[in-house]
Amino acid sequence: VDHFNFNSLGNATFNQRYLITDRFWKKSFGPIFFYTGNEGDIWEFALNSGFILELAAQQEALVIFAEHRYYGRSLPFGNQSFSIPEVGLLTVEQALADYALMITELKLQLAAAQSPVIVFGGSYGGMLSVYMRLKYPNIVAGALAASAPILSTAGFGDPRQFFRDVTAVSLGEQIRLKRPLGVGCHDDRSRRFFLQACTEIEMCYESNNVTDMFPPMTFTQEARQLYCSKRWGVQPRPGWLRIQFWGDDLSTASNIIFSNGDLDPWANGGVRNSLSPSLIAINISDGAHHLDLRGSNAADPESVVKARKMEAELIAAWVKMERVRFRQSH
Ligand SMILES: *[C@@H]1O[C@H](CO)[C@@H](O)[C@H](O)[C@H]1NC(C)=O
Ligand SMILES: *[C@@H]1O[C@H](CO)[C@@H](O)[C@H](O)[C@H]1NC(C)=O
Ligand SMILES: *[C@@H]1O[C@H](CO)[C@@H](O)[C@H](O)[C@H]1NC(C)=O
Ligand SMILES: *[C@@H]1O[C@H](CO)[C@@H](O)[C@H](O)[C@H]1NC(C)=O
Repeated sequence: VDHFNFNSLGNATFNQRYLITDRFWKKSFGPIFFYTGNEGDIWEFALNSGFILELAAQQEALVIFAEHRYYGRSLPFGNQSFSIPEVGLLTVEQALADYALMITELKLQLAAAQSPVIVFGGSYGGMLSVYMRLKYPNIVAGALAASAPILSTAGFGDPRQFFRDVTAVSLGEQIRLKRPLGVGCHDDRSRRFFLQACTEIEMCYESNNVTDMFPPMTFTQEARQLYCSKRWGVQPRPGWLRIQFWGDDLSTASNIIFSNGDLDPWANGGVRNSLSPSLIAINISDGAHHLDLRGSNAADPESVVKARKMEAELIAAWVKMERVRFRQSH
């Protein structure tokens, strides 16, 4: 339950859900494709990420979709999970440690020590994929982060950018807008997400005047602090993402693909230009929010077909490199 503190909860554990298929796996050799679940029931992401299964069929991979703690059925304290202080263990760091431990344990159980692990994620899940590669390069050989707003959430750029882009895109893209906006402020699950916005993510601040959120308010730093402490019993940590997850200073990282669709209001909050030969930005000119993770479809624009092809080639190359690295170090 708590990876970082022996005092608060001792050695308590909880059941975390994951989905797994070895339908395509070349046992104990093929890579492991691991989806770092984001804010929601894991089935929702599994059913909308057909590309990962297509890639697994090509590259003989084992596929795992892991559910984020405090979502779906993975509730550390059952129906008490959203009480104060129990809810305080909903943090990015705990979620990453859950995934690192899960990968390690499953590799052991499946005798898959030699299978390189590639992580995948979209949106907040894409941020988690990036962070997994940053924090656990011993466990994760590469990451595909689709539509991950890692810069804007860390407070870079114009905080009004997301809302400005939403307005611009919304003129012709009503339907595609539903999803990214839904992440904002409505259902129960996004309320939980707001807790994470409190503790780590510099989301929805300053110009975000979201009146349909429960108390109507403008998200100034002061309002955010008040909301976070009243509603969740936590204090925001401005600047923490920049310290803990490198902010925009990513040049010493490696093996990460940042893909973004030009029709996605989150796009300009992510990495849009390659930072090195192994930190690759891919633009999908006709794509909305993480379109590349979805399964291939006859109606796909050429740009997403090209993006998926490039992603497949990069991932195959990382898997090869990781095999060499593993042999040399064991
Ligand atoms: C937790 O610690 C207690 C006391 O040391 C021990 O009896 C128990 O078996 C441990 N439980 C787990 C799940 O490790
Ligand atoms: C919460 O969970 C406990 C233990 O599983 C159960 O006894 C109780 O009825 C649940 N309460 C609610 C409000 O669901
Ligand atoms: C927030 O938006 C509402 C509706 O557009 C407006 O009436 C209100 O004055 C705004 N509040 C602030 C503090 O800007
Ligand atoms: C992607 O598009 C953005 C916005 O148009 C542009 O600034 C950026 O240079 C492009 N990146 C790549 C890798 O083509």
